[in-house]
Amino acid sequence: MRFAEIVGWGKALPPTVLTNDDLSKMVDTSDEWITTRTGIKERRISHVGATEMAVVAARRALAAADMDPAELDLVVNATCTPETLIPASASHVQARLAARNAGAMDLNANCSGFVYGLVTVSDMIKAGSVDNVLLVGVEKLSYLVDYTDRSTCVLFGDGAGAVVLTPSDRPVGVLSSELGVDGEAADILCVPEFGTAGRPGRPDPRRSGIYMEGQEVFRRAVTKMGEASVAVVEKAGWELTDVDLLIPHQANLRIIDATARRMGLPASKVFVNIHAYGNTSAATIPVAITEALEQEMIRPGANLVLAAFGGGLTWAAAAVKWGERTTPLSVSDAELPPVTQTVWELLQPNFEFYGLPEKLRD
Ligand code: ACO
Repeated sequence: MRFAEIVGWGKALPPTVLTNDDLSKMVDTSDEWITTRTGIKERRISHVGATEMAVVAARRALAAADMDPAELDLVVNATCTPETLIPASASHVQARLAARNAGAMDLNANCSGFVYGLVTVSDMIKAGSVDNVLLVGVEKLSYLVDYTDRSTCVLFGDGAGAVVLTPSDRPVGVLSSELGVDGEAADILCVPEFGTAGRPGRPDPRRSGIYMEGQEVFRRAVTKMGEASVAVVEKAGWELTDVDLLIPHQANLRIIDATARRMGLPASKVFVNIHAYGNTSAATIPVAITEALEQEMIRPGANLVLAAFGGGLTWAAAAVKWGERTTPLSVSDAELPPVTQTVWELLQPNFEFYGLPEKLRD
């Protein structure tokens, strides 16, 4: 029987930091409010496009797997902020990597996109239709954030993470999964006018940013991430006590804590980095996998649960058996280009489109 093993991992976080104190100079908020309600202390604002972040994360993941891009059969970009719609953003990544034997496609399930992607490509590998796959989670959410809206602008950041998967005859990788959606409630978390619902060239700024009914999304995320996580543990034939590490989507520390409580997991078995990056949507889990490995929180043969909830309203969870290797085979020298602008300069186009945040006026 064929399984799909994660053999490479990497991340690319832009260096420019937007702190809670920076945000409190823009809108009526405070470090105390943001920290206690969300767990976020700072987030990154990218000076480059999503493709550049994806390519650096991908090069690092390929190096960790010691794989040449020409060996890839498929490149998948999980994203809801592609640099272009035509071509799909995965085509840019394929071209930049010179992955000349690969197919390429984007996958959009918002914050659940990486787990949806992992389940999809793992099943493709198991079925034998592809061997080596690069799966990237990348977002430039700062493009969609309206910094005049304090209820959403404190939450989101930019970044990319990537994994490389390859066939294995050992029972590793995704052992069970749950994918779900509540499309009827999708309008409680959306960008109302983006895509063909909008008017190309004449976007309405009031309807082109992230709209979210936070409390309602929160309530549903707690329920669905918890239920899906417990379900994949049962489907994998594990007990909850067999779980070594929960790697949840990083949207709100209180959602993460509630999911862990539902699973009866102590804090030592839960990976958290939301304080550093905020919610980077499809990128949170591959970045978290990379950092959990760097921090030696994933041991050979570890039982992992990945769980996510996001726009759609999608949710996804997977029980993942890690393989034997937890260190990279080699290290890439790929880096993002240096930044020449301040965080305020990087946000300027956004202010011009959505309007200047209250406290920055005159
Ligand atoms: N600073 C200060 N006060 C604020 C801020 C802020 N940044 N934002 C809102 N408030 C105020 C509100 O106006 C409200 O004031 P009021 O009581 O006077 O009316 C009060 O704080 C409480 O607001 P709530 O919305 O009830 O705050 P809550 O505790 O629910 O936290 C939050 C809001 C952080 C958004 C939370 O609801 C949440 O995390 N929701 C889920 C987010 C999520 O998981 N999204 C999914 C992924 S996103 C994607 O897919 C792209």
